[in-house]
Amino acid sequence: MTNNQKLKQWVQEWANWCQPESVYWCDGSEAENKRLLDEMVVGGMAVKLNEAKRPNSYYFQSDPSDVARVEDRTFICSKTREEAGPTNNWADPAEMKKSMRELYKSCMKGRTMYVIPFSMGPLGSNIAHIGVEITDSPYVVVNMRIMTRMGQKVLDVLGDGDFVPCVHSVGAPLAPGQEDVKWPCAPIEKKYITHFPETHEIWSYGSGYGGNALLGKKCFALRIASVMAKEQGWLAEHMLILGLTNSQGEKKYITAAFPSACGKTNLAMLIPTIPGWKVECVGDDISWMKFGKDGQLYAINPEAGFFGVAPFTSMDTNPNAMLSCKANTIFTNVGLTPDGDIWWEGIGTECPAGTINWKNKVHDPASGEPCAHPNARFTAPAFQCPAIDKDWENPAGVPISAFLFGGRRPNTVPLVHEATSWNHGVFMGSIVSSETTAAALGQAGIVRRDPFAMLPFCGYNMGDYFGHWITVGQHAGAKLPKIFYVNWFRKDENGKFLWPGYGDNSRVLAYIFDRCNGKGETVETAIGKVPAPKAINIDGLAGMDQAKMAKALEVTNDEWKKEVTLIDEHYARFGNHLPKELTAELDGLKERLGM
Ligand code: OXD
Ligand code: MN
Repeated sequence: MTNNQKLKQWVQEWANWCQPESVYWCDGSEAENKRLLDEMVVGGMAVKLNEAKRPNSYYFQSDPSDVARVEDRTFICSKTREEAGPTNNWADPAEMKKSMRELYKSCMKGRTMYVIPFSMGPLGSNIAHIGVEITDSPYVVVNMRIMTRMGQKVLDVLGDGDFVPCVHSVGAPLAPGQEDVKWPCAPIEKKYITHFPETHEIWSYGSGYGGNALLGKKCFALRIASVMAKEQGWLAEHMLILGLTNSQGEKKYITAAFPSACGKTNLAMLIPTIPGWKVECVGDDISWMKFGKDGQLYAINPEAGFFGVAPFTSMDTNPNAMLSCKANTIFTNVGLTPDGDIWWEGIGTECPAGTINWKNKVHDPASGEPCAHPNARFTAPAFQCPAIDKDWENPAGVPISAFLFGGRRPNTVPLVHEATSWNHGVFMGSIVSSETTAAALGQAGIVRRDPFAMLPFCGYNMGDYFGHWITVGQHAGAKLPKIFYVNWFRKDENGKFLWPGYGDNSRVLAYIFDRCNGKGETVETAIGKVPAPKAINIDGLAGMDQAKMAKALEVTNDEWKKEVTLIDEHYARFGNHLPKELTAELDGLKERLGM
């Protein structure tokens, strides 16, 4: 329990307003977890998977209308629209609170209000921060238990300190005697995922899915934390963290930011193809970084689990992810096999006859409908990853030597290039982009800018966020990471990928490792330094030769002149919030291109 008066009062006020049947403070114990899961199985919300095949694991199907983050319904409610900036939905905080309070009124009738104290980051780490989520969803409780450190131990560390208050309701009150549904939620027009940056508050209503409901993840660890990081001089980033050890046993840590659907989880856990090298995973999605006394940036993974996209994860594409969800895992919107295990497209085995799809119908491969929803997820404890780094829970964090940015670009962007200065690296982060695939947005071949892969996750004006990155580079005594931009997805004139990707990305990581040690030969180009021929080790790489490497690494000024036109358009959005340092970087690029 807790003596934190502010917390007790806050819970009481919300309980009075939402009118739950009862209020339950989560202790985080195994017994509590088991009880909630058993109750959900009995209530028909969950299926317990076959204990022999998938020990202590559970299966859920969401409502077909509640399957992903809802960016259109996500708001940054800063005092002014300008503070939220051109990339966020904005609403006036007082008006938003007024209309959402109406929605919250008696919204938990017939349900339990769970109070979840959680720590983002190892308990007691001075890089970590504490939040408390109130929710009427037991599914949220069991997921938050995997994704964060939660329960009584967090209250003990919190004492009478400050916390980020997070309010969540599925928005489906029950009338007396009304039977519950399998996945309660509200219709789309009543869903709101709302952030109040001035007061560091999160209010979410109407959705039970992923980042809309597990409020520690995108809402706190990125949107609100990015605001806190600017106020307090640190970084809250949409970045994986990995440890890379060379064949001599020397180790460095790297973080990397990629837009969704660029293989971030795969990179975080990759198995190198170069003999003697090792990759270990600290985190697959988010990195919080603060300066140490020695001027280095130290990173923690604020999460404790992986909320991974299931489809196309297999023993071929990501064996470490497959092994992470072997047991103690929650599966949402995948297929359910007749023998009580899970199945999804690209898992690497035939779909067993009689498998139930995510819509609870027998899967018919001939129908063209997928068995698993494309955004089906596994929620798995990070410690179960065979490649988890020994320091993944070190409260001091791990020292970062390099930042990587990247996206999915079939042309223009070379396999890897390196910034010539910190500000040049910030420029690279600010122009991160991915080309849309037909599956993603209905329109193939459109370049979508996703600066720092933070487009849907930055809690304030993105132009000011660029400015914050510039300021980080001016930190007194800073030993700054080197910055690189990678593109695994460049294609040749026949539409074939030039680079094999997956485990062979370790070859590029090895080159980056050498660069951090002042080794590895480079060639200057208009956009930065690219590896000299043979600087990337392609020994034993079938189908690769120096001519193909030259294509993968080529920088064509004509292509970049077109790119600069797109960057001009992108930058125009930020008006006078665009730091002058970035205008200078763009001018420098134009000059080098002879524009
Ligand atoms: C995620 C995302 O789910 O970035 O992690 O969309
Ligand atoms: Mn993400």
